[in-house]
Amino acid sequence: MAQEIISLDSITFHYPGSDQEVLKNVSFSIEEGEWVAIVGHNGSGKSTLAKLMNGLYFPDQGDITIGGIRLEKDTVWDTRKHIGMVFQNPDNQFVGTTVQDDVAFGLENHGVPHEEMVKRVHSALKQVKMDDFLNQEPHHLSGGQKQRVAMASVLALRPDIIILDEATSMLDPTGRQEVISLVRKLKEDQAMTVLSITHDLEEAAKADRIIVMNQGEIFKSGTPQEIFELGDELVRLGLDLPFPLKMSNAFKAKGILRESQQQLTEEELVNELWISHFNK
Ligand SMILES: Nc1ncnc2c1ncn2[C@@H]1O[C@H](COP(=O)(O)OP(=O)(O)OP(=O)(O)O)[C@@H](O)[C@H]1O
Ligand SMILES: [Mg+2]
Repeated sequence: MAQEIISLDSITFHYPGSDQEVLKNVSFSIEEGEWVAIVGHNGSGKSTLAKLMNGLYFPDQGDITIGGIRLEKDTVWDTRKHIGMVFQNPDNQFVGTTVQDDVAFGLENHGVPHEEMVKRVHSALKQVKMDDFLNQEPHHLSGGQKQRVAMASVLALRPDIIILDEATSMLDPTGRQEVISLVRKLKEDQAMTVLSITHDLEEAAKADRIIVMNQGEIFKSGTPQEIFELGDELVRLGLDLPFPLKMSNAFKAKGILRESQQQLTEEELVNELWISHFNK
């Protein structure tokens, strides 16, 4: 049985000085090695969830457990060791003047000895395939490369959970693809637990499970297939269906594709079109 690594139990939260209840009775858990995507309209409470898991704020009610430790003011530094966070804007995440300095920075702050630091910087940059860029200045890199360096900085600290808050939303399709393939590789090769917060349902379709947030509450949680069965209900929640799903729905409406299956990725759609073509 897989172990639970993140657990939120009946979380209710409002920001200090505001009376808006931003999260209402939110409960979910994530198992070790699982990739969970959180989707939802603007202001539905996704980033707030990430901030609570990182102990930047504490819930009004409910419990958060990370790696078996109950998150409280006294344990926040222990729970944070489990989590690496990557944010939306790659330019805001750089502190070093070269790629390797940048990755080394977090390790220096954690008092990692020099020799060990050099090893970790190299291995983290290798993991994200940026080991040829050690001495480059970060601002000369493409968006996707910058986010991969940001991920290396996080990986060098050896977390077992990585939380990506809209980490691909400012990237072009190539950069987005680079980051998503890296996430998949971390999950498959190292059983890394991934929580990706995203507006992009096509990206969410690649996760093991999707949690849909609506106005501070969990609307539904399930496999991508189960979630996309909601169809237009997702559109009513302010989400945009993945392009391959829109295409396959249009083909079904014209009787070109079978009703029984959903195509969530371009690859599945192309395969299904070939099959239906040859079965004619
Ligand atoms: N520091 C803050 N103080 C007061 N209210 C806040 C603060 N940060 C966020 N909020 C409010 O909390 C609610 C949830 O915001 P949150 O950032 O969690 O949403 P989100 O789902 O991440 O949205 P987006 O998709 O735009 O990133 C919103 O109504 C927002 O205005
Ligand atoms: Mg957000």
